[in-house]
Amino acid sequence: MKVTMVGTGYVGLVSGVCFADFGHEVVCVDKDPGKIETLNAGGVPIFEPGLDALIAKNVKAGRLSFTTDLTAAMQDTDAVFIAVGTPSRRGDGYADLSYVYAAAEEIAGLIKDFTVVVTKSTVPVGTGDEVERIMSEHVSRDLFEVVSNPEFLREGAAIDDFKRPDRVVVGTTDARAVAKMRELYRPLFINETPIVFTERRTSELTKYAANAFLATKITFINEIADLCEAVGANVQEVARGIGLDKRIGNKFLHAGPGYGGSCFPKDTLALVRTAEEANVALSIVSSVIEANESRKRRMANKIVAALGGDVHGLRICILGLAFKPNTDDMRDAPSLTIIPRLVDKGAEIVAYDPEAMDEAKKTLPDIEYADSAFRAIDGADAVVIATEWDEFRALDMRRVKSLLNAPNVIDLRNIYRGEQMRGLGFSYTNVGYPK
Ligand code: UGA
Repeated sequence: MKVTMVGTGYVGLVSGVCFADFGHEVVCVDKDPGKIETLNAGGVPIFEPGLDALIAKNVKAGRLSFTTDLTAAMQDTDAVFIAVGTPSRRGDGYADLSYVYAAAEEIAGLIKDFTVVVTKSTVPVGTGDEVERIMSEHVSRDLFEVVSNPEFLREGAAIDDFKRPDRVVVGTTDARAVAKMRELYRPLFINETPIVFTERRTSELTKYAANAFLATKITFINEIADLCEAVGANVQEVARGIGLDKRIGNKFLHAGPGYGGSCFPKDTLALVRTAEEANVALSIVSSVIEANESRKRRMANKIVAALGGDVHGLRICILGLAFKPNTDDMRDAPSLTIIPRLVDKGAEIVAYDPEAMDEAKKTLPDIEYADSAFRAIDGADAVVIATEWDEFRALDMRRVKSLLNAPNVIDLRNIYRGEQMRGLGFSYTNVGYPK
């Protein structure tokens, strides 16, 4: 099949490359000539494990190309995917759909034969209807069908999530569109991936409901972690104890400094706004948002308390800045809330992240950055683990101790074992454990 992918952001690029790897002929389009130039020169604008090799393989096979020219890209195409950004609108938290609608209008003007137009971007319920309305102003209604096909991939594990998903959700009831979507995802039938065909609105809502549920699960275990600390229980064992119940499941029960990233914060907020418009109270999701925000702030207090209540003049080493490992994404990362609060309290910050420092410098230009974990640790009064990169799990703790000015470790991701750390002479604080 011939596929056009509009938008080479995270979702667009990964989806486009993976569809090419399924054997389809894919053209990725972006308005940003810089991005397209980078891609055509063999570079990758984002950090995602395995993506560079997969791009190179499919470009070489002649199945994948990049252009700024939508007209050329749409020549004889079977399906056009809209995978442009839907950021939170400043101030009100609604998803900003202007890029989606602009893409729809442009696409409509170029359709000649029956084409499936698929929204991969995360879009609020009813967006497909509006895309259809906009397109109908420019092209005959029987020449296109608007389909919702939300993406459930996680940054850092995106290729695997795309190629081996738990399920694929497709929102359309049109027979021609169903046939095309089946053909697109045919390689997944081999490993019997369930494909949920449903109404478009249901599909749109499924994406938000999935993210809101996962955000709730994390926030739930984070609150249980607070309670564990207060009553002397162990959150990791509570998580294991409940997670073995298949109705609960063991995933997304790791306590930490609060969820971040480009999806959960934005999507939970947009879902609450949708509900408000429909006069429905989503009190659980609203509480999750509030609890997560306040958690990120409280993490700074936790660090201060672990260091005796006053961090004025202390040099604090932050290991990990990205919202999670294996990404350079800094969007809504807990470190962005924690670091400025520590600076306000008079601490001097030195930070290190294997991939996200260039991104971090855009928002936090005034702190010190080190080019290795050990350089960051050298001479610091405390180490804070803010992101659980494998590199930090593997640190030689004796060397860490010898480099530190004072042996304080505050582990917000629970990557070390308390007993071991205390055995080595560290003052060690983590999340959700008895003191
Ligand atoms: C999330 C969803 O997991 C994907 O299914 C979805 O497709 C994606 O959003 C999206 O809407 O595009 P992502 O934001 O890339 O993916 O990252 P996650 O691995 O889900 O992590 C999100 C946040 O939750 C991170 O800050 C992470 O540290 C935190 N988290 C996750 C925890 O604190 N505890 C956990 O047990 C799991």
